[in-house]
Formats: sequence, C-alpha cells, structure tokens
Amino acid sequence: MSLGNTIKILSIIIPTFNEHENIIKLVNQLFQLEMEYEKEIIIVDDDSHDGTASLVREYSKVDRRIRLISRFGRSGLASAIKEGILCASGDLIAVLDADGQHEPTTLLTAIEKLRNDSLDIVIGSRFLNKSIIKGLTSKRKSGSSIANYLARVSLNNSYKDLTDFMSGFILLKRDASIEFIKQIDVNGFKFLYELLSLSKGKLKIMEIPLFFKERKFGSSKLDLAVVWDFLISLIHTFSQRLMPRRAVSFALVGSFGVIVQMTTIYCLLALTALEFETLLPIGVIFAATSNFIINNALTFRSNKLKGLKFYIGLMKFLIVSSLPIIANVGIASLFYNQFSANTFLSQLAGIIVVFIWNYAASSKVVWNN
Ligand code: GDD
Ligand code: MN
Repeated sequence: MSLGNTIKILSIIIPTFNEHENIIKLVNQLFQLEMEYEKEIIIVDDDSHDGTASLVREYSKVDRRIRLISRFGRSGLASAIKEGILCASGDLIAVLDADGQHEPTTLLTAIEKLRNDSLDIVIGSRFLNKSIIKGLTSKRKSGSSIANYLARVSLNNSYKDLTDFMSGFILLKRDASIEFIKQIDVNGFKFLYELLSLSKGKLKIMEIPLFFKERKFGSSKLDLAVVWDFLISLIHTFSQRLMPRRAVSFALVGSFGVIVQMTTIYCLLALTALEFETLLPIGVIFAATSNFIINNALTFRSNKLKGLKFYIGLMKFLIVSSLPIIANVGIASLFYNQFSANTFLSQLAGIIVVFIWNYAASSKVVWNN
C-alpha cells in the first residue's frame, strides 16, 4: 500500500464511566455535525459496570468510525483522555464529556476559532460572559472559582487570560501538544490543568463560551479523591514539579498524621487519668493507622488493599514506619556532630531521611508499587 492523499480526520475522544444511557445519543449528535473532516470517535471506557463498553462494541461493529478502548479497572478521567489522544489518527483532536453536558455543536465553533486564530488549543469555557451553566450546583460553582483562582496563580499567570482551567471540553492540534501530553501523569480529573502546567505558556490557547447543560442520566464522578488529586497537582506545580506526585500526597497525609497524634494524646490526657508516657504509643499507633487508611484511599488508591490484604498491609505499614524512629534520632545527632550544630537543620535532616525511607519502603513493601 502506498501513501496517497491523506484524509482530514477529526478524532473525538470521549471518556466514559457508567454512561450507558448517554453515550449513543451523543455519538449520533456528533455524527450529524457537518464539517469537512472525517470523524473518528474513540470511546475510552474504564470498566463501567453498567454495560457501556459492550454497548459501544456493538455499535462499533455497525459503524467503523466508532472505536472502543476498553480498560480494566478504573485508572481515571485524565489518564483515559491521555490514552485516547495517543491512539487517535487525526491531526485535530477533540475531547468532550459523555454525559451530554457539553453542547456538541460547540465543536463547530471551536474548529472555526482554532483555524481563524491559528491556535494550538481551544477550550470550551463555562465561565465566560456568554457561557451558559445549567449543570453546576452553587457549591460546585464556588468550588470551581476557587480552583480556577489557585490554578491561575500556580501557573505563574502564564495562561492568565483563561477562565476555565478544569474544563473537559478541549480541541487541540496534535502536533503542537503531543509532546506535553505524553508527559502527563495524573490521577483524577485535571487533564487540562496538567497540560497547561507542563507547557508553561508555550501553547497558543483561547477559549470560547460553552453551554454546560444538566446531566441527563447517571451522576457525576467527581468525588473527594478527585479534589484531593487537584490539591496534589497544585502543590506539585507550585513546587516546580520536583517531588513525585505520590510523594507530595504521602507528605501531606503524614503532616495530617501529626495533627491526629497530638489531638488524640491531648484528648486522652484530658479525658483519662493515664500518664503521657502510656498515651504516647497509643497516639502514635492511632496516627500511623489513620495515615495508612488515608494513603490507602488516596495516595495509593490505584493499588488499594482490601479485605485480608488491608490488615496485612496495616501491619507492614506499622512496622515500616516504626523502624526509622531510631534512625531519625541517629541521623539528627550525626548531622549535629558532623556537619552543623544547628538544631533546626539537624532535626530537618532526620525528618527528611525518615520521610524518604517511609515513602520508599511503604510504596514497595506495603502497596507493592
Ligand atoms: N474513562 C473514564 N474513567 N471516564 C471517566 C472517569 C474515569 O475514571 N470518571 C469520569 N469519567 C467520564 C464521565 O463518564 C464523563 O463522560 C466525563 O468523564 C466527566 O465526568 P462527570 O462525572 O460527568 O464530571 P462532572 O460533570 O462532575 O465534571 C465536569 O467538570 C469538571 C471540572 O469541574 C466535567 O466537565 C469534567 O471534565 C471537569 O473536569
Ligand atoms: Mn458531567
């Protein structure tokens, strides 16, 4: 076969998790859009338990413009978008939600905008003056405006004119953005934010107003873990992406553990007649256990331990994190004697080494990462 005239293809990536009632309606609406591109629709499903994947597979047998990427387990929205984009044939790639909240005809406006202004990316924004939002509760709206503010600041104002850093509606030129997209490594929802963070202002991006409708069937998948991931992404970006994202999450949980330990001990001191020395180990075990539970639910949720494995993991975690207590003291005094008699720096040295040990050892031993 020779390479003759290539076809102009628009690849449309649709991530799905339990969207059985919504997906085919959206696919039909997209096929009805008239444009000079041939369409390829790539649906990336994360093991939906409502039969979304088998429904899409049936349709893909009838219409070969529909492709299904069926993944095992739930790796999350951002990673689904990334995988879809990497598999796309088109030079022009669109991403939109499966639940019908994004008005499909916006795609036509986006294509026109991308071409007329020779842009790399067009974002459908929910927060421009002409945008219409029907599908966000007031709690979600205020959550979004805080998130947008933090996103703008954390990105050093490199995309300061944007209004919707979390949008799920994106049109992009493959050539311009693919190298950044390959680097995206992220749990949760924040595909666009990560792309902006990695590209540091190098992409030419503008927004168009989006009509964000109410969800017809099913419910939103945005949960606490998604919010947590965004928080981690923010800190990661603020800290110049130096530490691995998981380590940031682990550190944050660890500092929460300090609060848990102190609260437990002070409460028990007030409520019981027990001595501080007796309460100390209780507080430590309490804090370590709560750290384990939170890390299992958030930091390592892709390797989440359940059932018997949960209890075995907890035991391993308690052992792993009790070992460095001695090391902490040893390193701090070594640093104090050998390098600097500064007490603050010495303690910091101890804490940093112990943190690295705890993170590395629990990743390997407890969550087999
Ligand atoms: N493959 C896959 N895996 N798809 C997922 C997953 C997942 O783990 N979680 C959600 N999705 C799909 C949904 O099926 C839907 O098509 C789309 O991603 C958006 O998910 P919703 O659960 O409908 O999100 P939302 O409406 O609450 O959130 C909207 O606002 C967010 C920012 O505030 C969306 O537009 C998001 O894209 C946006 O980031
Ligand atoms: Mn939605």
